[in-house]
Amino acid sequence: MRRKVIAGNWKMNMLPNEAIDFIEKLTPLVKNTKNEVIICVPYTDLFYVLLNVQGTNIKVGAQNMHWEESGAYTGEVSGQMLKSIGVEYVIIGHSERRQYFSETDEIVNKKVKQALKVGLKPIVCVGETLEQREQGITEKVISKQIEKALEGIEQESLEKIIIAYEPIWAIGTGNTATKEEANEAIMQIRKKISEIYGQNKSDKIIIQYGGSVKSSNAKSLFEMSDIDGGLVGGASLNAEEFSKIVQFDN
Ligand code: 13P
Repeated sequence: MRRKVIAGNWKMNMLPNEAIDFIEKLTPLVKNTKNEVIICVPYTDLFYVLLNVQGTNIKVGAQNMHWEESGAYTGEVSGQMLKSIGVEYVIIGHSERRQYFSETDEIVNKKVKQALKVGLKPIVCVGETLEQREQGITEKVISKQIEKALEGIEQESLEKIIIAYEPIWAIGTGNTATKEEANEAIMQIRKKISEIYGQNKSDKIIIQYGGSVKSSNAKSLFEMSDIDGGLVGGASLNAEEFSKIVQFDN
């Protein structure tokens, strides 16, 4: 049985004082869950959040990183820098980064490799646009994204990787994918991973759904056969709402 992993993605929200407040509220609300809880926060919140989650079951991730170890890349943050302060996860290839910051599949692949190299666990995002879904090429698009993102990754590393299926049309729109749509796409991702790494690995890898997840729809989505939890944007900004999503099975 795969575990359920619920990750919040704060995107470009929350000042340090708000972040500390959030952790204070969330900690008692999720302390008894058996599900894995992760919050992926802006760089400027990382240090405060890491200090405040000590001794709790809340894990911390960043939302991006550079693929090089160090060097003349003004404004960038390396995986090693994140690892050195105690960050455990990093979101890679979010559609907002692909769309607004021109991240290609090749860049995503380089970042995944570097994250693994420094001991971070990547949460790799894939997903189709509405146009691609309407054209009936969803499976083709997400299979290619998976193939490219994981190119050259050894199968032993697979257990450190989480995949997040986030259809772009469902992100921040309130248009959640139906549980059947989400489950089907995730099964296609598993099929692709099985083709590359074998059935055993594809049965084990954690694959989340993301896109307008809220406490009112989390249970029906996360109970589907292939959906192992969620990557939550807007609804992760409120501790109470997020805690209900984490404890969808309570
Ligand atoms: P929303 O939950 O706000 O739709 O965002 C999803 C997302 O992009 C998480 O990474």
